[in-house]
Amino acid sequence: MSWQAIGIFDSGVGGLTVLRELARTVPQEDTIYFGDTARVPYGTKSPDTVVRYSQEIASFLIKLDIKLLVVACNTASAVALPMLRRSLPVPVVGVIEPGAKKAVEATRSGIVGVIGTSGTIRSSAYSRAIKKLNPSVSVIARPCPLFVPLAEEGWIDNEIARMTARLYLEELQKAGVDTLVLGCTHYPLLKKVIAEVMGSGVTLVDSAEETARTVADILKQKKLLRPEAEQGNHHYYVTDVPAGFIRVGNRFLGGKLGDVYQVSLEDCRIETEKD
Ligand code: DGL
Repeated sequence: MSWQAIGIFDSGVGGLTVLRELARTVPQEDTIYFGDTARVPYGTKSPDTVVRYSQEIASFLIKLDIKLLVVACNTASAVALPMLRRSLPVPVVGVIEPGAKKAVEATRSGIVGVIGTSGTIRSSAYSRAIKKLNPSVSVIARPCPLFVPLAEEGWIDNEIARMTARLYLEELQKAGVDTLVLGCTHYPLLKKVIAEVMGSGVTLVDSAEETARTVADILKQKKLLRPEAEQGNHHYYVTDVPAGFIRVGNRFLGGKLGDVYQVSLEDCRIETEKD
């Protein structure tokens, strides 16, 4: 057993969808969430830049003595996971492999759709992970960048969201995908409109749920889980002033965000702001 916290990071607020699932799956665990709000988005940046940012955040979290690192950001998982696994002394869980595994299990037609940021889709990380598990599955991937601002704005169930989803997803729907991977932290918030456009025959794979399950399995296997009777605490660090993170984060978590600390990665100076 280990009392250390689970570290989890994202480019900003979106990774709270992964934290939410983690808190449901292993409620006894403490977590330390890091949102790089000063440098978001990662989805439009080059792999080298995202790898460098991920390395800086991971070093910060390792100094806080975490027992496992969750890379909640799909873009960072797509490009920085091998480097993080090589260099860190703790298990590192990304969101790509769990999502790919679930998609391969779910598909019957053998045609899987993947949606994500431009960076994630360009990396082909989901396609590679799916093909590694089952080479006969066809993957059709599509970037859906506008879903990110829509989710942050809370426009998740209106006509703009529906129109955007139709424009992005029509091609995947027509191609006969029966399983669609929501390969971006923000997309689970748009599940309702995405499901409407894709139709009831299409299974939506939420990488966040699968990732939480993978974390629980690893902690159990390594005997690092806290006793079930415990109630975990959640701490948040961000790199920009916390106001925006608190506002959007409360929407993502349903109003349960605690204290948020602003931190500078250069000097690790910490300032606090209560919500
Ligand atoms: N967190 C990012 C991801 O899951 C989406 C937002 C961004 O582009 O940074 O890919």
